[in-house]
Parts: sequence; structure tokens; C-alpha cells
Amino acid sequence: MKLLFVASECAPFIKTGGLADVIGAVPKALAEQGVSIKVLIPAYPALAGLVAKGKSVMSFVDLFGGPARIVAVQAEGLDMLLLEAGHLFDRPGNIYLGPNGQDWPDNDLRFGALSYAGARIGTRGIEDWVPDVINAHDWQAGLVPAYLQLSEGPKPPVVMTIHNIAFQGLFESTRLAALGLQAELFTSEGVEYFGKIGFLKAGLALSEKITTVSPTYAAELLTPDFGMGLDGLLRNRQADLSGILNGIDLDIWSPETDANLVANYSARSIKGKAKNRAEVEARFGLTAGDGPLFCVISRLTFQKGLDMLLDRLPHLVSLGGRLAVLGSGEPALERAFIDASNRYAGSVGTKIGYDEALSHLIQAGSDAIVIPSRFEPCGLTQLYGLRYGTLPVVARTGGLADTVIDANEAAMLADCATGIQFAPINATMLGNAISRACTLFANQKAWAAMMRRAMRHPVGWDLSAAAYLDVYRAARDSRTS
Ligand code: ADP
Ligand code: GLC
Repeated sequence: MKLLFVASECAPFIKTGGLADVIGAVPKALAEQGVSIKVLIPAYPALAGLVAKGKSVMSFVDLFGGPARIVAVQAEGLDMLLLEAGHLFDRPGNIYLGPNGQDWPDNDLRFGALSYAGARIGTRGIEDWVPDVINAHDWQAGLVPAYLQLSEGPKPPVVMTIHNIAFQGLFESTRLAALGLQAELFTSEGVEYFGKIGFLKAGLALSEKITTVSPTYAAELLTPDFGMGLDGLLRNRQADLSGILNGIDLDIWSPETDANLVANYSARSIKGKAKNRAEVEARFGLTAGDGPLFCVISRLTFQKGLDMLLDRLPHLVSLGGRLAVLGSGEPALERAFIDASNRYAGSVGTKIGYDEALSHLIQAGSDAIVIPSRFEPCGLTQLYGLRYGTLPVVARTGGLADTVIDANEAAMLADCATGIQFAPINATMLGNAISRACTLFANQKAWAAMMRRAMRHPVGWDLSAAAYLDVYRAARDSRTS
């Protein structure tokens, strides 16, 4: 099986969220199953060093306004294909947003070009390598099957993976020509979506199979509340939709070996966690205390529900809890967490920004991680939390519902709890979950048992990689049958 991934980010090269973690990790797990896999992403400035080490394998005289080429390079155990197109990707700062905090005005061309390049590899191949299947990830790769439709000759089937349906890549229909899309594709069966061009919509309508990143989110997506306008289309394609849970890269996320920690530890010997906790307290200006140290590592957006945590902060502090926040995003939320750190100095500490190394240390040094998301396709930070013995306190939705076993009476009796879930998703129930965490934490023996259990909970990629392989085979067979 030869497989091409098309995506907008890939850890450790370029990352703004969980998508990058997944794109960097799945290929390694699939390679172990015998899959030959290449990953196509744009050559943003951060990848210049990598481009310099690579080899040109395809070129475009004019790719949506300028010359472009694809550079192949092996790095970090991955076979990377980097789309170099200076007019589209050679820009400083955030990969999606301009300096004014708004989407780059030509994001349609930027990611249309990525999709176009993916489709070109699908039909022509790279040297002797032609993919059997293309896995397109999120809206940025949504036009891959559209461009395949426009090309001649044999073409590989496409699996479209939804990491977050909140981002759909919607653009004015006046951009059709600039994107090289022919008018006959602008139909309700093609790229048209309520009068606009819908990148994700196109991917969902034109691909052979669809996956998303947890079974619960796959079910939620079929409802108007979660489907965000695409639920009808997904209900029609239900037979082709599957939810495959994300895993984590254990080479990067293991407290036994993680170089970002001040002390390594394991389920057998959790003593080292205390040293990490002291370091987190020092870095966030927190005073030592008897209550649990909660943490947040997150984009600060409506999705993540952290306004509800702000609402419940007085409660958390009154119970003796402390909180370390690492995040960036909406300015109002950033300001509110900074204000809270001033108001509750010593109990709440905030760092605004993106800091990969610090995120590892916080996972190691905290007792619990709070994830009150309004919706969460999968979520990775609760999986890191499990692995690091940092018990997740999560909203019961999407992948959070599928990965954390709530410490209710039955689970405690059966010795299988690994964290706390709350529902319905509102501030009152989050407050209740924080109370439950503090009560459980006071029973240090029960808490330590839960930590050990959480750390042993399987969170690697093996099972899910096998499930992806089944989907790729089904996509391939749907073409040959
Ligand atoms: P999403 O992709 O919706 O943001 P996930 O939980 O799937 O949510 O993935 C988020 C990823 O980004 C995790 O690897 C998390 O550790 C990381 N992350 C989020 N915010 C920060 C931050 N401020 N600094 C460092 N890492 C962060
Ligand atoms: C998205 C989702 C997140 C998921 C990640 C990787 O960013 O918001 O829940 O874990 O993609 O699939």
C-alpha cells in the first residue's frame, strides 16, 4: 500500500494544534504495518532548512500566480514532500493568519495550491512512486478530489479526514476561475456550498471514504448541533464515515524518557512527578499547597470552553486548588486569564504564548488537566494527561468522552476510573467536576491508584493505525470492484 498524506501542518516541523501531532505520528505507525507513506505539506519559512537538504522532484511553471516545486526530504523518520511556492507560503508569522490576526486573504489559493499539488502527485507520482490512496486532512486539503476529477487518466481514491468541522474553508464563488475550478464542479454534488466554494464540503462530497478522529464525534457530526451545516451531507454518506480515535506518539510523549522534564518517572515509580510539580509552581509563581494543581494547555477559543473555567475560578481557588494556564488565542480570553492571575496571585498563573517544551513540563508537573470543551473532535491533551498521570477533567463530548473513564461509583468499584467527566456542558457542572477532583485528590491513595491506571491506559497508535489501514483498503477496493 502506497499512501499520500496531504495536510497543512506536521509535527515537529510546523504545528499550531493537534492536527500536526497526528500528521507527524500516524505515518510512523502505518510504516510499521508495511505502508509506504509520504506527507505533503507547504514549505513555510520555518522549513527552509529542511528544503535546503531536499531534492526537487516536481515543478510547476505557474501554480496560482508564481513558480513552485516539490522538494522531497527525509527527516524525523518521515518521508516529507514540501511544496515550495514563495508567493503563497514565504511569509512570517502564523501559517493561517496575517499580522492583523485575520485569515490571509489568499488562503483559498494557498491551500487550493496544496490540494492541486496533492492531486498532481496522485496522477503523475513522484519518480516511480504513485500513491494507491490519498488521505486528505481538513479543509486545507479538501479540494484534492476536485482537482483529481479534473485530471485525465487513472487516479487514486481519496479518504477525507475531518479533524474539526468548525473550520470549513468557505470562499466566494467569484474565486472559481482563480482556483482553476471549472463551472461544472460548482454544483451541490461538488464544491458548491450555500452559494460559496466549500473546500471541506468538496472533500466530503467527492471522496471515496470519510473518517473523523473519534467514534463519538463521528456520531455527533450527524446532528445539526455538531454538524455545522454539513450534517445532512454526512448523514447521506454515513455508510462511508468512520470514527477512528487519535493516538499519541510515545517516542515524544513518555514521562520515562521526555527530555523536557526536570525528572523522569513512570507508573511504577511516580516519585519524580513531585520535582516537576515544584518546577511548574516556580515557573508560574504558584505557592505550594495541599490542593491539586490543575493545568490548561490550549488554544484559547470558544470551542475549548475556558470561559466556563474562568467563571468557576473562585470556586477552584476556594477549594485549595491551583491552576497553571499555557495558551494563546482570543485576546479577551488571554486578558481574562492574565487578570485572574493578578487577582489570585499564588493560586493562578498564566503564560500567554505557544511553548512546546513548557507544555511537556506542565503535563508532568500537574495533578489534573482541565478540558471543558463545548465540542472536541478528539483532543490530544487528555491523552498526554493520561500518559503523564495528570488526570483529565473533561466535558463529555467527542473524543474526550471516548478516552477518559469517569470516576463514578461503578468505575471506582471496578477499579477502572482514569479521570472525571461532566455533562451537561456548563459552568455549574464544571464546578461540580472540580469539586469531585478535589475530594478525590484528598484521598491520596485512591488518587495515586488512578494515576497509575491512567498511565497504563493504552494511548498509542497501534489499534487506530490498523483501523486506518482497513479504511484505505476499502477505499482502494471501492475503485477496483
Ligand atoms: P486542537 O488541535 O483543537 O487545538 P488538541 O488537543 O487536539 O486540540 O491538540 C492541541 C495540541 O496543541 C496539543 O499537542 C497541545 O499540547 C498543543 N498546544 C495547545 N496550546 C499550546 C500552547 N500554548 N503551547 C504549547 N502547546 C500547545
Ligand atoms: C482538531 C481538533 C482536535 C483533534 C485534532 C487532531 O484540531 O480540534 O480535537 O484532536 O484536530 O485530530
